[in-house]
Amino acid sequence: MSLFRKKDLASLLAQADNGEKGLKRTLGAGNLVALGIGAIIGAGLFVRTAAAAGQAAGPAVTLSFVVAAIGCAFAGLCYAEFAAMIPVAGSAYAYSYVTMGELVAWVIGWALIMEYALGAATVSIAWSEYLNKLLGGAVPYEWSHSPLESITIDGVTRTGIMNLPALVILLLLTLLLIKGTQESAFVNAIIVFVKVAIVMLFIALGWQFIEPANHVPYMIPEGTADHEGFFKHGYGGILGGAAIVFFAFIGFDAVSTAAQEAKNPKRDMPIGILGSLVVCTILYILFGHVLTGVAPYTDFTDPTKGQEASVAYTISTYMKGYEWLSTMITVAILAGFSSVILVMLMGQSRIFYTMSQDGLIPKAFGDLHPRFKTPYKANLILFVFVGLFAAFIPGHMAGDLTSFGTLFAFVLVSLGVWILRRKSPEMQRPFKTPLVPIVPILGAVICLGMIVAIDQRTLLFAMIWMVVGLLVYFSYSRSRSMLHRPS
Ligand code: ALA
Repeated sequence: MSLFRKKDLASLLAQADNGEKGLKRTLGAGNLVALGIGAIIGAGLFVRTAAAAGQAAGPAVTLSFVVAAIGCAFAGLCYAEFAAMIPVAGSAYAYSYVTMGELVAWVIGWALIMEYALGAATVSIAWSEYLNKLLGGAVPYEWSHSPLESITIDGVTRTGIMNLPALVILLLLTLLLIKGTQESAFVNAIIVFVKVAIVMLFIALGWQFIEPANHVPYMIPEGTADHEGFFKHGYGGILGGAAIVFFAFIGFDAVSTAAQEAKNPKRDMPIGILGSLVVCTILYILFGHVLTGVAPYTDFTDPTKGQEASVAYTISTYMKGYEWLSTMITVAILAGFSSVILVMLMGQSRIFYTMSQDGLIPKAFGDLHPRFKTPYKANLILFVFVGLFAAFIPGHMAGDLTSFGTLFAFVLVSLGVWILRRKSPEMQRPFKTPLVPIVPILGAVICLGMIVAIDQRTLLFAMIWMVVGLLVYFSYSRSRSMLHRPS
């Protein structure tokens, strides 16, 4: 059997239309844009904007957002073509199965686990941090950090045991997801509203506190302490910053994982994907401009200043009279992070669902709840998996891996659109990516550029993860694939 055996598109679509057994179609274009924004605005904006400015880009973090957004827009246009053409659950994994064959699909599916499962873990860890900030440190250090983290205060060293708040939020959201997509979409819509409102409030109120001197020089000059290396200052720093803030864009593709639950996927998927991307890009650039204008970017690498909870720090330090905003933002951030986790968990369970229907992972992942029609077993197994990372791994490790997995999938999806245009030009494409092959090539190149700018240790770990994936494929999935069985 060929490594490139493909799933047949017609039977895939028929499988998706099988209303009795399939997922319910309840989401409209508005729900999908909300789903996208729900997944997008989160730890990336509220944590990584300041980190990118401090470590690599300076005030030019706005340009980092532009670079990351261009890469995402090109990849997003490619996602939209696939999502409209192959409107089934499973996102990039499902697209590649019919276009590039089983092995590539498996590789993408395995990389997507890094994106969604580790993405959910990363944000739940950030959630735990902000919750503890709101509670004034009420959760002891040991029970809010991973065993790989420790802190020394007044000569006393404390080491984490497990991150309990991160586990709790994951469990609550898993239960919500099991109850049903429609209800979770409603909760998500409320959270998205709050989240966007708070970002706009910060931009509007912060604008008057911008100190033009903080924007000069706009990029970090060469020879500045701690800024050795190509991706840490000047134009290279913009790319380095893009690799960091890229995390803030992750999630727009999560819209495509819900294709099978969209009422009118051919029209609504491109609107959902590109609409949420455009809204977020505009907000991010303005946010980065205000943040680095109100506080000097050097504050964001100083642990005694704004290295942590940078937005709250900036408001309480430089925006006199607006301390209330700092608390309000923390509350909104907690709600915002919840919606990101929700969409990530949902995306991953839908990918598991599809992979299990294909026979590549155990059947339990595809069992739907008799009443709620949700893949509840996939959700529960996922909770255990994500929970292990959230409880025992530091946030920055999980975050960098998330970016790798996503960028990797983006590259393959971009190339996939181009390949399929050449190999199957006759296929029906309700939405067409413009300027093929220029857009797919640029998408792949910009995303590859960001992969190169990720730190070396993360890249090594990511490679190990991918090799493990191949071992699983050849030892388990390949022989159990539905394509392997006589029909
Ligand atoms: N884009 C999501 C966030 O920033 C993953 O939290």
